[in-house]
Amino acid sequence: MNVEEVYPLAVEFRRHFHEYPEFAMQETETQRYIQGVLERYGIANTTVGTGIIATVGEGRRCVAIRADMDALKVREETGLPFASKREGMMHACGHDMHMAMALGAALMLKSREKELMGTVKILFQPSEERRPGGARLLLPEVLKDPAPQAIFGQHVFPELPVGTVGIRSGAFFASSDNIIFTVEGKGTHAAMPHKGSDPILATACLVQFYQTLVSKFRNPLTPAVISITSIHGGTCNNVIPDKVEVLGTVRTHDNALRRRIFELIDEKSEAICALYGCTFHRDKTWNGLPVLVNDPELARFVEKNAARLLGSGNVVPMDYLTLGEDFAIYLEKIPGAFWVLGVRPLEMETMAPLHNPHMSPSEEALRIGMALMVENCVRFLAGGE
Ligand code: NI
Repeated sequence: MNVEEVYPLAVEFRRHFHEYPEFAMQETETQRYIQGVLERYGIANTTVGTGIIATVGEGRRCVAIRADMDALKVREETGLPFASKREGMMHACGHDMHMAMALGAALMLKSREKELMGTVKILFQPSEERRPGGARLLLPEVLKDPAPQAIFGQHVFPELPVGTVGIRSGAFFASSDNIIFTVEGKGTHAAMPHKGSDPILATACLVQFYQTLVSKFRNPLTPAVISITSIHGGTCNNVIPDKVEVLGTVRTHDNALRRRIFELIDEKSEAICALYGCTFHRDKTWNGLPVLVNDPELARFVEKNAARLLGSGNVVPMDYLTLGEDFAIYLEKIPGAFWVLGVRPLEMETMAPLHNPHMSPSEEALRIGMALMVENCVRFLAGGE
């Protein structure tokens, strides 16, 4: 089957996924639907949790492609005839498109199985949006013999028009870590502050200091963001509370800097809290995401394949993105490349962004995403030119 033959099926798959979204780690109906299609076309597959690993071809040379499966807690407002049938739940991040393209690519690869010079693993991964995330769940299975020598993934991107693909060599998507901590002091009457120690004052100082950390302890040429997003402490006007609970997020594009920022947060926060007679307790069990780092050679390989399909003018060099993406977990173990797929309808100047209730990607992009996935797999297995 070529891309034109698979396209109407991919549209059908996508609309089905869109109508019946499921939350992270609950993708059981989605899983059953995908399995049904795979089995109809004689494609071998195994399940891992609510995910699936399908296999086409055979041999030790191996490449993997990945689609994510989960929907978001968003009430859809697109008014599409195939809008979500589930209240307050929507494929607003385009994972319906990702699954349809991976499934379409599986069908195309199956019809060319004899020509494949190795194995293709097609990963349907649950829970991209929720940590610890489905990549950590699937990875040990993916690495089983034959372990892929390359992995490819894509994300729909409303900022680019349909007919284009965007990619960046090296660091691309940001690391994404939550900061969760408590500042403990000693509660007292607000009129007699010397009888206790004030965790609110210490917290105020920490919030200020974190911006100094970004501006004075970091090489200004390497991006980093620290945002404090929630502070909870105290109940009334005349009581200094015992403790303050704080949430925030850290984004970087350099894994060494990511580690360093957390070392500095711990070291300096402890010292600052001590100045105020308070103590600092950070939750270190949080499992964030590393920087998504594209292998330079494989990023060039994808660029070349995309240029063959779309013309080199339609392959867009990208800047860093401050979004997180758990595809980064695979890239820590398997060299690979991740790109963004233009989905903005050509007649529109702008479209609703990801995670928005009006987000409605152009289905035309399905053709491009499928063709590029297949092209990458076939050429990689044949030796990578
Ligand atoms: Ni997404």
